[in-house]
Amino acid sequence: MKQYNIVVAGTGYVGLVTGVCLAEKGHKVTCVDVNQEKIDYMKKGKSPIYEKGLEELMMKNKARLDYTTDAYNAYKNADVIFIGVGTPEKKDGSANLKYVYEVAKEISQSIQKDCIVVLKSTVPIGTNKKIEKFINSNTKNNVKVELVSNPEFLSQGTAVRDTLHAQRIVIGVKSKNAEKIMREVYDAFGIEYVITDRESAEMIKYASNDFLALKISYINEIANLCEIVGANITDVAKGMGLDSRIGNKFLNAGIGYGGSCFPKDTKALNWLGNYYDYELKTIKAAIEVNENQKIKLIKKARKYYETFEGLNVAVLGLAFKPNTDDLRDAPSLDCMPILLDDGAKVKAYDPVAESNYKKIYPTEIEYCKSVEDTLKDADICFIFTEWDFVKNMDIDLFEKLMKKPIILDGRNCFDTNEFKNKKVIYESIGRKCVNNYIK
Ligand code: UGA
Repeated sequence: MKQYNIVVAGTGYVGLVTGVCLAEKGHKVTCVDVNQEKIDYMKKGKSPIYEKGLEELMMKNKARLDYTTDAYNAYKNADVIFIGVGTPEKKDGSANLKYVYEVAKEISQSIQKDCIVVLKSTVPIGTNKKIEKFINSNTKNNVKVELVSNPEFLSQGTAVRDTLHAQRIVIGVKSKNAEKIMREVYDAFGIEYVITDRESAEMIKYASNDFLALKISYINEIANLCEIVGANITDVAKGMGLDSRIGNKFLNAGIGYGGSCFPKDTKALNWLGNYYDYELKTIKAAIEVNENQKIKLIKKARKYYETFEGLNVAVLGLAFKPNTDDLRDAPSLDCMPILLDDGAKVKAYDPVAESNYKKIYPTEIEYCKSVEDTLKDADICFIFTEWDFVKNMDIDLFEKLMKKPIILDGRNCFDTNEFKNKKVIYESIGRKCVNNYIK
């Protein structure tokens, strides 16, 4: 295996996990970030993000990993520079490329030899070409870069596994030389390549994420209709998913998709379509369905309480999905202001996302350390995340501890049959309500 001197710009989910996994496969990797505190932390072998297996790999590959804020020196002699900085959503829905351009500028000012710049961040179609032009027209030392599009498909919570055992490595290149180098970089991963032009690689990323978002919105619409006509979405999804053309993944109905990717990437593609005067009707629908779905539990709860004023509200799960502390676009953040504005007394439990939630709601919510504390004397309970601690909890606790055992499960954590003989109201998504409490 050929060992490359790789530099990764950005130490978020994409940048850090990529860097650490490349080191695991034998490359020498330097991770660059502007935040000195974060760099000091990582130098101690600690991960600034909660990601299974990441710290272990950081420790294991210490000798091949370095962390620095000194971008200039890091880029100077790099063979390959990966850009993994964020491309957040702008107010109009388009992707903000500010951070990508900041890195591009630093690269142009510092490199002293020709190198490959790999754009891992999710960027609008045409960006690789533009960044290449930008760097090459600003270099100081008469050197050239070639941009390679190499989109990322990792999911938060399983990022290390998704990177080391990816289902494909997409590489968008314009020259055989860049293709050769990229094949060597990823050689030890032993994963199938999709080699294409840069525009197609950029599109593969958006099209994949938006397809999954659309699949979720689709199953959520079917779930909503199931509720009306008396069908059961769990059985419906099972029946659909066994058809290998459909597949059984991403057919879990719930309170919609959140996170740092699907919401932003659907809006960005929609924006791009509009920009070229082409209306992407399916993507628009996925966005609209999701917006409504996120507050679906609140609408259901209004059946029981016109207002939440003065009520004890229990919340289990705050993160946008389990095994992450990330709160970006979490459905809980759409519901929480409604509960608090109404004047509810909210008690919440999320073992991992609590500290991030505290940054948004430091005092307005009482943070609990157990399911028991959260449920005690509650008038209603909302489940926003399907954490294992929820799925594995003793369901008798609802009846035992709550003042009124009204459970609104936004992630279908339990089989409705489990509540058949329990004196509770159990509402979920796309399934019949179990009501053994109010006759
Ligand atoms: C997503 C993609 O799955 C990754 O392939 C991609 O690389 C990543 O975005 C990215 O662009 O960086 P992620 O946002 O980490 O990954 O999380 P997912 O596991 O895909 O979940 C996204 C949202 O969809 C969550 O809120 C989840 O609860 C929801 N979801 C997922 C459903 O509501 N139903 C499902 O069946 C599956």
